[in-house]
Amino acid sequence: MSKPVRKFYGEAVPNGEIIQIVDGKATKPTRPVIPFIDGDGIGPEISVATRLIIDAAVRKCYGDKRSIVWLPAYAGDAAVAKFGSPLPAETLELLDYYGIGMKGPLGTPTGGGIRSLNVTMRQHFDWYSCVRPVRYFKGIVSVVKRPQDLDVVIFRENTEDVYAGIEFEAGSQAALEFIALAKKHGHDIREDSGIGIKPISKYASRRIVRAAIEFAIDHGRKVVTIVHKGNIQKHTEGAFLKWGLELAAEEFGDIMVSEDDLWKVHGGKLPEGKILLNHRIADATFYELLCKPLQFSVIATTNLNGDYISDDAAGQVGGLGIAPGANVGAKSAMFEATHGTAPDIAGKGISNPCSLTLSGVMMLEYIDWDEAAVCVTRAIEKTLRSKTATGDLARFMKNGNQVNTVQFTDAVIANMVKPTKRTVEAALKGKKAIRK
Ligand code: NAI
Repeated sequence: MSKPVRKFYGEAVPNGEIIQIVDGKATKPTRPVIPFIDGDGIGPEISVATRLIIDAAVRKCYGDKRSIVWLPAYAGDAAVAKFGSPLPAETLELLDYYGIGMKGPLGTPTGGGIRSLNVTMRQHFDWYSCVRPVRYFKGIVSVVKRPQDLDVVIFRENTEDVYAGIEFEAGSQAALEFIALAKKHGHDIREDSGIGIKPISKYASRRIVRAAIEFAIDHGRKVVTIVHKGNIQKHTEGAFLKWGLELAAEEFGDIMVSEDDLWKVHGGKLPEGKILLNHRIADATFYELLCKPLQFSVIATTNLNGDYISDDAAGQVGGLGIAPGANVGAKSAMFEATHGTAPDIAGKGISNPCSLTLSGVMMLEYIDWDEAAVCVTRAIEKTLRSKTATGDLARFMKNGNQVNTVQFTDAVIANMVKPTKRTVEAALKGKKAIRK
C-alpha cells in the first residue's frame, strides 16, 4: 500500500521511491529516496565524499537504470541553525516516512547538556540491532601482527542497558529515593551518589541473539558468541546470556551446537551444517579478540559491551575511520559512521570517509544493490592496497601516499570497476552484514 505524499521542511517532494518493508524484506527499488543527515564536525565532508562514491558506483553498475535520490535531513548543528532544535520532530517523521537513512556523526556534550541524539533516535525508532562488521583491508598498517585474522560481525543490543539514559544526579530527589529504596532491599549506597539504571529485558535480549543467529545462518558463519558480564551483573548481563541460550535452544536447537556438546558429543569437530554457539565474559573477549581473533565470527552482546568491543575491534584492523555500522529495526534502518565528529580535524578536509562510505555499502546491500556494494568495496580495497589514504591511515604506511578527503574520493572513484556476477557472488558470500 503506497503512502500518502508528504512534504518535509516545506521542500518539494523528491521524485523517487519509498522503500517498503514487506514480509521483513526491503522492496527492491530503482530510484530510492535515501534521507541523509550530514552530521556535525567532519560529518559534512565525509557525507559529500560518500554520496559521490556511491553515486559513481551506481552509475558504473547500472548506467541510468538506477539512481539514488538523496534527501537532506536535519539533525545536530545544522538543525539548530535552520530550525532552532537539534532534532526537529519533522526529521523523526521524515525518517519514519522513508524507513531508511544515512547519517554522519553527531556531537554530544559530555557530563551534561542535551542527551545523545544518536541514542534518542535509536530508541525512538526501536533500531534494536546495531550491526558492526569489522574486517581488515590490505594496505592498512595495524598495531597487531595478523590483522587479517579478524573478521567479525558484532550485533550490539541498541535500546537498553546503561544507554537507556535513566540517570539521576547526585543529591536529586530521585537519586535519594532510589538510595532509600536500595537500603530497604538491603543495599547501602553512599548518599552523595549519582544513580544510573541498567535495564536488560528478556524481550530485547532474545531478539538481538535471534538477529545474530539468523545472520550467521544466512551467511554461512560458523560461530556465534554471546558476550556478557554475567559473573558480576547476574540479573542483567547474566540474564542476557541465559535468555540468549534459551532462545537458541527453542528456535535454533537443530542447528546450534553448544561448546560443551562440541567436545563431549562431537569430539571437538563442528558437524557440517551446524553453528557453534558459545559464550564469553566481556573482559576475556577483549583478550581473546586480540590474541585469538580466528575464534570469533558473530558476536551478540549488550549495549555497553558492544560499544567497547566494536571500537576495540576496529582499532585492531586499523582504526575507527574504516569501521562501518548500521542500526536496524523491524520497520527502518539507519546506516552511520561509527566514529564521532572528530573536532580536532573538522573543517581541514583531511578526514577519512571510509567508515561512512562502507556504511553506505551496508545500505546498498540492504536494498539488494549488491553489484554497487561490491564495486565500492573493491575500489576502496584497491585504493588502500596502493597505499593511497587519508592521514589517519597513510601516516603509518611505509611510503604511504597521504591525500586529503577530496583526493581520496577521486582515487576511489578512479579505481572503480563494474564487478562480474561471479565476483559479486563470491564477494558477498558470508559478508552481507544486514538481515532484513
Ligand atoms: P571521534 O571518533 O570523533 O575522534 C576520535 C579520534 O579519531 C580523533 O583523533 C579523530 O580525529 C579521529 N577520527 C575519527 N574519525 C575520523 C575520520 N573519519 N578520519 C580521520 N580521523 C578520524 O571521538 P571523540 O573525539 O571522542 O568524539 C567527538 C564527538 O563525537 C563527541 O561529541 C561524541 O559524543 C561524538 N560521537 C558521535 C558518534 C555518532 O554520532 N555516532 C559516535 C562517537 C562519538
